[in-house]
Amino acid sequence: MELPAKLACLGYSFISSKMKEMAKGLGFFVVISALILGACTLFDFPQDVKRFNESTDGSLSNASNVDAPGTNDFHFAVFGDSHHGLDDTTELINRTGLSLINADSDIDFMVGLGDLTNSGRNHQYAGLKATIDELTSIPFYPVLGNHDVWFNGWDNFKQTFGRSVYTFTADHVTFIVVDSASSTMNKGQFEWLRDRLIENRDNVTIVATHVPVYTGLSGHYLLWDDPEQSYNFMQLCNQYNVDLVLQGHYHEFDDLTIGNVRFIVTGNWNTDIDGDTYHYLKIGVNGSGITVTKVDFSI
Ligand SMILES: [Fe+2]
Repeated sequence: MELPAKLACLGYSFISSKMKEMAKGLGFFVVISALILGACTLFDFPQDVKRFNESTDGSLSNASNVDAPGTNDFHFAVFGDSHHGLDDTTELINRTGLSLINADSDIDFMVGLGDLTNSGRNHQYAGLKATIDELTSIPFYPVLGNHDVWFNGWDNFKQTFGRSVYTFTADHVTFIVVDSASSTMNKGQFEWLRDRLIENRDNVTIVATHVPVYTGLSGHYLLWDDPEQSYNFMQLCNQYNVDLVLQGHYHEFDDLTIGNVRFIVTGNWNTDIDGDTYHYLKIGVNGSGITVTKVDFSI
């Protein structure tokens, strides 16, 4: 029932122009258009729903909480699209960045904002895991990206890292990791997110998503597919006092506050786009204060 609805979405512009010619009266066209547009917002990708269900039905391991200092004052690192397995240069960038993060004794854990692998292959996940284990001794929290689900990549991700939708805490901060690998958010995950935000509305809350919901950058084709979903996500974050949204996918840095919520994009770990430098973020949380430092590096 849902696939025809998606096809209707994709072909809407073409179909609507033909329908204008065919429809005898304006009323007919308005009614049909409303039905098709309504179907667009009802569609959930089956693979997106499958990943959400498997991440929340208890069949996969839960990410453990971070043993942060207990002072409500700690740091963590965030890196963007690592694309492990792409080429030798990417390997060198990954190794350099991970080594720098590990050498900073202030950093208690790290978050990888998706596209961890270049094409979701099992050997790429194994290689990334081996590199992380070799070069770091701090907890790693993964986010699922669109490249990570190529070639049966979800099965490889969940065998390597577990859930793609989960929460964890570090001291007084709740982290909520969502699955936007399909550039969308199914209704079940949206309701799950809302429940987590309600539970944590009085805590410091940080949400991590691979595909950005919004940026000040120009490439809007790199955002979630449905602007209405993005709007609803941003409304939820504002309503329930989310402090920070971390976003990847874009391979550039951006820092934008909308309403009460700070939206940061990072990701120029893998490739050098628009002259930006390879970087990761060092984020400090002290009470309710959050500081974000962009750490540039070269190889
Ligand atoms: Fe991506």
